[in-house]
Order: sequence, then structure tokens, then C-alpha cells
Amino acid sequence: MSPPEAAPGTRLIVLLSGPNLNLLGEREPAIYGTATLADHVAAATAAARDLGYGIEHLQSNHEGDLVEAVHGARGRSVAIIVNAGALTHTSWSLHDALAAYDGVVVELHLSNPAAREPFRHLSVVAPVADGCIAGFGGLGYPLAVEAVDRVLAARAVPPPSGAGAGAGAGAGA
Ligand code: DQA
Repeated sequence: MSPPEAAPGTRLIVLLSGPNLNLLGEREPAIYGTATLADHVAAATAAARDLGYGIEHLQSNHEGDLVEAVHGARGRSVAIIVNAGALTHTSWSLHDALAAYDGVVVELHLSNPAAREPFRHLSVVAPVADGCIAGFGGLGYPLAVEAVDRVLAARAVPPPSGAGAGAGAGAGA
């Protein structure tokens, strides 16, 4: 897994890339574009840095590596952005790992699987994701980071009404 490119204490987003995404740039460019996975990770990292997050990225062609990365994200990251590739449509072990993760989960796809072959219409990640960004190509990576930030902001507990400075311990962020 790549090291987080962020200052210590910065909130961490784990970005996971599934099988065959290492071939982006060469793989079916008419569908997935010509940008490489490194390009997409760089775009996500830049967006994250602007919003005060760090990105830790793992690409693997092996289901168990992704399951273990989800386990490893528990308790130390605020969100997982996952483009699981074809495991999106088949991996109940990834589904179960994500179900046991209590941060924000964003499902991400370069293409729009709902507009493609029928076998891509089922996502087993979707039931355990907060939402999905699909079909916008590489733009999806910064969009996913922004979605994480907005969901976390919406979930932040507001201070009790009427609480002013010196009113005691607030809810915190
Ligand atoms: C994908 C869509 C999946 O159906 C496919 O198997 C991939 C890439 C996407 O980003 O569009 O590998 O996740």
C-alpha cells in the first residue's frame, strides 16, 4: 500500500483498486480512457490534500488483499473509496468486510456499469456503500473525495443550540 501523502494527524481516506485496474491506460481505452491508475490516484490525492485528507492507495488483482486492506482501514481511516473492478459484481467477502467498516464507503467506477452488459448490473458493494459515483471517467476520483468530505460534514454533530464560547465541552468534530 502506498504511504499516506499527508501530514501526521490528517484524516485518512483509503483508496482501493481491484483487478485489472493496474492496466488502465492500455486496457480497453474506449471504455476506460487513456489515463493510468497513477494519474487517477494523483487526482484523488490532490483533491484530498485540498480538503485536508491524506490518501493511502492499494491496487490488487487478488480479492483477499482487498479484504485485508478493508480490515486494515478499520479504526484509522475516515473513509474507503473503492473501485473493485469486476469484484464489484461477485465478491461477497469484500461486501462483508465493508459491512464491518464503520467509516464512509464510496463505490467508484470509471464506466457506468448499469449501461453495460447485464452481468455488470449487480453490485454487491452497493448495499454496503453510502453511495456510488460511476460513468464520469477520471473525474470520478476527485468527485469521490468530495463526496466523502460532504458526507462527513453532514454527519458531524452540530454544537447544541445556544452553546456559546465558554459554555463547556462541545460535541467536537
Ligand atoms: C469498472 C467496471 C467493472 O464492471 C469492470 O469489471 C472494471 C472497471 C469501472 O471502473 O468502470 O474492471 O469498475
